[in-house]
Amino acid sequence: MNNDQAKRLSHDVRGALTTAMLVAERLQSHSDPAVVRYAGMIAQAIETATSAVRAGLQTIAPAPPQPGPPPPRLPQPGWDPTQYLRFSDERMRPALDLMERIDSAAPGLVIDLGCGPGNVTQLLSARWPQARLIGVDASGPMLARAQAALPGASFIKADIATWTPDAKPDVIYSNAALHWLPDHSAVFPRLLSLLAPGGLLAVQMPLMHDAPFRTLIPQVAAKGPWAAALAHVAPVAPILSPDEYWDMLRPHVTALDIWETTYRHALEGDDAVMQWASGTSLRPFLDALHDEGMRHDFRQAYAEALRPFYPRRADGTTSLPFHRLFIVGRV
Ligand SMILES: C[S@@+](CC[C@H](N)C(=O)[O-])C[C@H]1O[C@@H](n2cnc3c(N)ncnc32)[C@H](O)[C@@H]1O
Repeated sequence: MNNDQAKRLSHDVRGALTTAMLVAERLQSHSDPAVVRYAGMIAQAIETATSAVRAGLQTIAPAPPQPGPPPPRLPQPGWDPTQYLRFSDERMRPALDLMERIDSAAPGLVIDLGCGPGNVTQLLSARWPQARLIGVDASGPMLARAQAALPGASFIKADIATWTPDAKPDVIYSNAALHWLPDHSAVFPRLLSLLAPGGLLAVQMPLMHDAPFRTLIPQVAAKGPWAAALAHVAPVAPILSPDEYWDMLRPHVTALDIWETTYRHALEGDDAVMQWASGTSLRPFLDALHDEGMRHDFRQAYAEALRPFYPRRADGTTSLPFHRLFIVGRV
């Protein structure tokens, strides 16, 4: 097994252990004392297994540099702007929190990387009406929505990993997009190198790889009539840790601000967490299922698996704790 396979396996194992721990914790408030006792024993066993995985991880040597051409890019999921915008208020909040931390009075060129349907690009335009604004995205349907919402801005269909602007931007902004790209140790320094002197890179990404919301996707995908069709689909890979981003970016910037926030989104409607994921993390899996009936059944199986972790509150909403990582660096 090579290092990448070992890391992927340990990620899957840690995800399964987190899910198991959440179940054990829930059972510890059961009314039957025997169930509580067994839940305590299970929780202890999970802790032992988690420590063993952690210890095993530390023995994995850093990957040697890969000679030759870069690996082929992952296929982009088919984005659906309408499904994505179903929870636009909740998705907008971290975008605004990120924008608030950008200290730039009158930037000449502002880039919105992974601009999606352009709802956040509109906010960038409102904040800096004098700036030239470019939105970049790989999805045609998302870009069409963005261009209709903001006819005055330029929107470009390109891969963030390789796209280079025609002038040096003062602000490169990216909300909820860069976690879709692999190889952050190449992507982030490259983005910083594109900036004008004194320019800012501002990024927000979900830090959710251990949450049932994400870990249940490959688990549900592996069981059921869809398993063969989904066997080759890779879930969104975990991003780096906040410390790893700090160490990677610090040598390239004059100032760096990294912080984390957990939002508790109060989602409306039936199977709200499944609906949320259908606009993002579930997309690569839905794309791989061409039979409409099977797609429906897969989404329902995922919704059922989610239910114990995200029960409806008494007021009818579903609470989705969503952890996010923010990075603002000035070159
Ligand atoms: C979750 S949406 C975020 C949209 C928007 N930034 C927002 O905050 O609402 C992620 C977007 O990133 C785009 N994306 C993902 N990987 C990309 C890549 N390698 N190059 C260009 N766009 C990419 C997707 O097409 C999608 O529109």
